[in-house]
Amino acid sequence: MTISFDGKVAIVTGAGGGLGRAYALDLARRGARVVVNDLGGARDGTGTSDAAAQVVAEIEAAGGTAMANGGSVTDYAQMVEMVAHAKEAWGGVHILINNAGVLRDKSFAKMEPADFAFVVDVHLNGSANCTKAVWDMMREQAYGRILMTASSTGLYGNFGQANYGAAKLGLAGLTKTLALEGAKYNVHVNTIAPTAGTRMTQDIFPAELFAKFTPESVAPAAVYLVSEDAPTSAIVGAGAGVFQAAYVTLTPGKALHGDELSAEGIAAHWAAITDRAGEIVPQSGAEQAMSILKALQA
Ligand code: NAI
Repeated sequence: MTISFDGKVAIVTGAGGGLGRAYALDLARRGARVVVNDLGGARDGTGTSDAAAQVVAEIEAAGGTAMANGGSVTDYAQMVEMVAHAKEAWGGVHILINNAGVLRDKSFAKMEPADFAFVVDVHLNGSANCTKAVWDMMREQAYGRILMTASSTGLYGNFGQANYGAAKLGLAGLTKTLALEGAKYNVHVNTIAPTAGTRMTQDIFPAELFAKFTPESVAPAAVYLVSEDAPTSAIVGAGAGVFQAAYVTLTPGKALHGDELSAEGIAAHWAAITDRAGEIVPQSGAEQAMSILKALQA
């Protein structure tokens, strides 16, 4: 079955290069009209350039339809304006891929609070800004597909990326709640955790792996996750043509009573508390409360 985006309008943030560019090209090839957003800064978020316009030129040269937007995802008013412009030109916005990102890596000991705040602002608040800017429209038109970009750092941690990891797991959390709130309006929200050789990873990838981990080998997951038949609330790992699913699981746990309801009791039963046999993947926060009641009854 061919996946088509005919009649659909997509916004891809940070699409002036790397992964976002690959997503925008694939969506446009499949018929979507694409807003290529990028302020065109350096890896640490400083400066600007015409990166978005260059990708628009590539899309148009291949016969597709696109418009450039140089707004910053950190500026809510600019994102509202971007969405209004897309609606005016093309009638609505059906797809949003929150992909824009920056890095300011340092061990936490050496990290300035301003570098922590800046990275969280671009990834987490930036994605919330863009999502808020399309949210009412998607609810009203009863159609929306939104993709957040997390990272292995958010899910599992990586040395020197405390700011980035905090923002990235925040995005997986944002997905979980928006998937619930969007369900009845046919708004699906998913998370991708990509691994790709881009300028963001050029100094950590060995050269031979850099060539294998192409943005184009991640794009199929992003494109599927914003398609009509996309799941919702999924966390999908993608790199070099390998696709994975990540879950936030919960062990059945152990109810403690009397004297054992103490720090000493936790220490004594740590193995049972953390035993993964029978663990579940709660579909909402309420399911954790239900599993607590179940453990009390056991
Ligand atoms: P990249 O640096 O090529 O792409 C990020 C783009 O976002 C850049 O073009 C940049 O100009 C743009 N951008 C930065 N701040 C912006 C702002 N305020 N407003 C609008 N655009 C802005 O890097 P890459 O690798 O393509 O990253 C894309 C996304 O994937 C990022 O969210 C990144 O954190 C994430 N990611 C990448 C991984 C990888 O292995 N390359 C691993 C895990 C996550």
